[in-house]
Amino acid sequence: MSLKRTTMEQPSTFLQRCHGTIAAQDRMQMFRQQPVTIWLTGLSGAGKSTVAFKLEEHLVSLGHACYVLDGDNVRHGLASDLGFERKDRRENIRRVAHVAQLMNDAGLIVITALISPMSDDRAMAREIIGPGKFIETYLSAPVATCARRDPKGLYAKAMAGEIASFTGVSAPYEAPSEPELLIDTAAQTPIESVAQIFAYLRENSLATVSTAAATATGQEASAA
Ligand code: ADX
Repeated sequence: MSLKRTTMEQPSTFLQRCHGTIAAQDRMQMFRQQPVTIWLTGLSGAGKSTVAFKLEEHLVSLGHACYVLDGDNVRHGLASDLGFERKDRRENIRRVAHVAQLMNDAGLIVITALISPMSDDRAMAREIIGPGKFIETYLSAPVATCARRDPKGLYAKAMAGEIASFTGVSAPYEAPSEPELLIDTAAQTPIESVAQIFAYLRENSLATVSTAAATATGQEASAA
């Protein structure tokens, strides 16, 4: 599928962008962080929401400004008009990517937790969010593992034919081929997954908290 913008994205000819006086650099200094989007992708039940909120808790405890955009939550408002067919999922991802881009622009670290099953749609999100700001993080767990966990009872319903187009059962999931981060949630605890993502942020100087605080909490995260 082409990555051409949809007609909904065509700006009106009569619109002009306005620019404020606060530079991205000013916001980076204010928040002491690089405003990136940690884009969690994976099957329902792979642990995206759990890891997203635990990572948020960890980053906020260190003084970072960050926020989770969770698929189930977003679908109660921003995307409440959308379903789960191919086109609707793409629109859901497009909207969330634009919100994440705006939040990054405001200086915040964003963590998204969306299945985002199609490679093309994640590539679109990467393009919207911008170079160096999109950290594709694949939470990998086999369908059988997710179906066994089935925290919302949805796999049972999907397998009984009660939910159409359910990812991993009756709709596809295209695993990322070159994600920035690969997290094996079948083998790791959520705390270990958070520690792995946090280590990546530190190694890439994306969360420049004081070393003492980072080391203490990082150890705590990996030890727990
Ligand atoms: S996405 O494909 O558009 O990225 P999103 O992450 O927003 O999906 O929503 C997924 C959540 O919606 C799941 O965690 C699950 O609770 C719920 N859901 C309801 N119907 C479906 C379905 N057909 N496929 C997948 N998830 C579904």
